[in-house]
Amino acid sequence: MGWIIAMAGKGGTGKTTVASLIIRGIKEAKAGSILAIDADPNSNLGEVLGLKPGRNIGTILDEISLNPGIVPSGMTKERFIEYQVQSAIQEEDGFDILSMGKPEGPGCYCYVNNVLRSVMAGLIKDYDYIIIDNEAGLEHLSRRTSRYADILIVVSDASKIGLRSAQRINQLALQLKFEVKKRFILINRFKGNIKKTAIGETGLDYLGCLPPDPLIEKLSLNGESIFSLKNKAAILTALNTLGEKIWKHS
Ligand SMILES: Nc1ncnc2c1ncn2[C@@H]1O[C@H](COP(=O)(O)OP(=O)(O)O)[C@@H](O)[C@H]1O
Ligand SMILES: [Mg+2]
Repeated sequence: MGWIIAMAGKGGTGKTTVASLIIRGIKEAKAGSILAIDADPNSNLGEVLGLKPGRNIGTILDEISLNPGIVPSGMTKERFIEYQVQSAIQEEDGFDILSMGKPEGPGCYCYVNNVLRSVMAGLIKDYDYIIIDNEAGLEHLSRRTSRYADILIVVSDASKIGLRSAQRINQLALQLKFEVKKRFILINRFKGNIKKTAIGETGLDYLGCLPPDPLIEKLSLNGESIFSLKNKAAILTALNTLGEKIWKHS
């Protein structure tokens, strides 16, 4: 069973940036095979990883829901979805990536979502690491990908409002019965150490802080891949020192 790392946090806090840094970190540490799941319908994890968009699961679900006859006779719907999901995986240098997208049709997706969840559960077993980049809420994640993660990383800024929002996300995860072994808070764009008392109220364990990094800003402005970020970048050093807690599990 792979080690599942799920990202959460308000929009713009840095989830996609952190997810991509983790993917780079695991790849460079040669720690194992990686499946990146872009579970944000406004997906941009692929772009940050330097890829062109491929097919996404939302489109596939739409095709099936609008045109049930698309499933070849002699093939179960489950087998068909499994096959389609496999074909939507982009194989890259050092990691695979799957983009969830979002179904656009008016139909009910409960059934296909259930099938999808079991297909995803099977798929996840084939990788050592699964990194799931989420949209702001967690509903999407629990509905369509996995109800389980080994590590949940809630990304936040250091402000009171930010921390309160991280606390709400944690409560939501608990309400959704999203099963997690370790739940962390990662403070992004902060130099130094934050007061432990402020973190305590979120109900999350303190993972660490990542500094504001002009090299990341530059990368983002130029639309360049995370793999072009210089090794000396402060954010990369900071993230890699947290690798021990994020991916070096036994
Ligand atoms: N530590 C940082 N220093 C500088 N810029 C950052 C940092 N973290 C994130 N950013 C920038 O902030 C923007 C939002 O980050 P992103 O990872 O897309 O957030 P989210 O996925 O949570 O919406 C991006 O342009 C990103 O490059
Ligand atoms: Mg994002």
